[in-house]
Amino acid sequence: MDSANRLIEMLYDRRGEALSLDEASTAAGANRRRLEKLWALLAQRGHRLEFSPAGVRLVLPTAMDAHLIERNLGARRVGRQVICFAEVDSTNDVAAKSAEQTGADGLVVLAECQRCGRGRLGRRWLSPPGANVLMSVLLIDRRGALSHDALTIAAGLAVAEGIEDATALPCRLKWPNDVLLEGRKVAGVLVELKRRRRGCCVVIGIGINVNAHPPDEEVESPATCLSRHVGEQVERTEVVRGVLRRLGGWIEELEAARLQALHSAWRQRCEMVNQRVVVESAGKRVVGRVLDVDPLEGLIICDDHGHGWHLPAATSTVVG
Ligand code: BTN
Repeated sequence: MDSANRLIEMLYDRRGEALSLDEASTAAGANRRRLEKLWALLAQRGHRLEFSPAGVRLVLPTAMDAHLIERNLGARRVGRQVICFAEVDSTNDVAAKSAEQTGADGLVVLAECQRCGRGRLGRRWLSPPGANVLMSVLLIDRRGALSHDALTIAAGLAVAEGIEDATALPCRLKWPNDVLLEGRKVAGVLVELKRRRRGCCVVIGIGINVNAHPPDEEVESPATCLSRHVGEQVERTEVVRGVLRRLGGWIEELEAARLQALHSAWRQRCEMVNQRVVVESAGKRVVGRVLDVDPLEGLIICDDHGHGWHLPAATSTVVG
């Protein structure tokens, strides 16, 4: 492992406590002059370091760091390679552009800030720099085994579970993949699919409001962020790792066409079954009672005239 990675691991694992310069020097196998260069390298990676007579400490929450995310993740597919940017137009675009590169399957792209973050249904996704998780996961689906709708459902569930693993906050789901905390939106998922010569390129874009959220007047549905519920700033690294682990697990289930567990895990986090809803789907507005939420068949509704509707996850949204 290179010295900068060794140092950032040690600093991160101290959870904001100081590492003495002697310890740092031994761990990195570097003399004081070389250490100066390593501090500069970590600063370039976006980390803030504070020096005191006790040594050096990492200011938390820290910058998104590929090494801290990848290490011991046990990624078989999702998260085998992680890249972090200071600013991009949209992480979904960066991930899609990487699709032609060898080994891009499972790539994770993160950014501190997006110039043109996209939400579902042509909306914008707003997030101040350095506060939240802006992430895209690229999958190359050569066999065509991954259904867009099932992925849309699975990704929302993975985000809810990953947040819960990292923070113990109880997340709920709203069709098709809004993640809610006490009724307010804390995360959203945008799945984009492009057909290529060799299979399909799927980009799962995930936005999680970790330490900031947009004001109500700027968004369609009221938003919240994790720090508001935890009562202090939240470390994004752990949230990302939690989500990637869960997403990797659900994608394995989808590839093996095992949908039962996904179906019941989703239903357990969703209060919509038996409720009356208003849904927009491909320009139509459907009002009725929810009978079920199915990974492949979509939102199953019985309207006021007794007609059954199967509304696909990728193109429908609950508006009331
Ligand atoms: C939604 O509308 O609820 C989906 C929001 C998805 C936002 C994320 S942020 C990272 C990725 N890049 C984008 O441009 N959008 C997604």
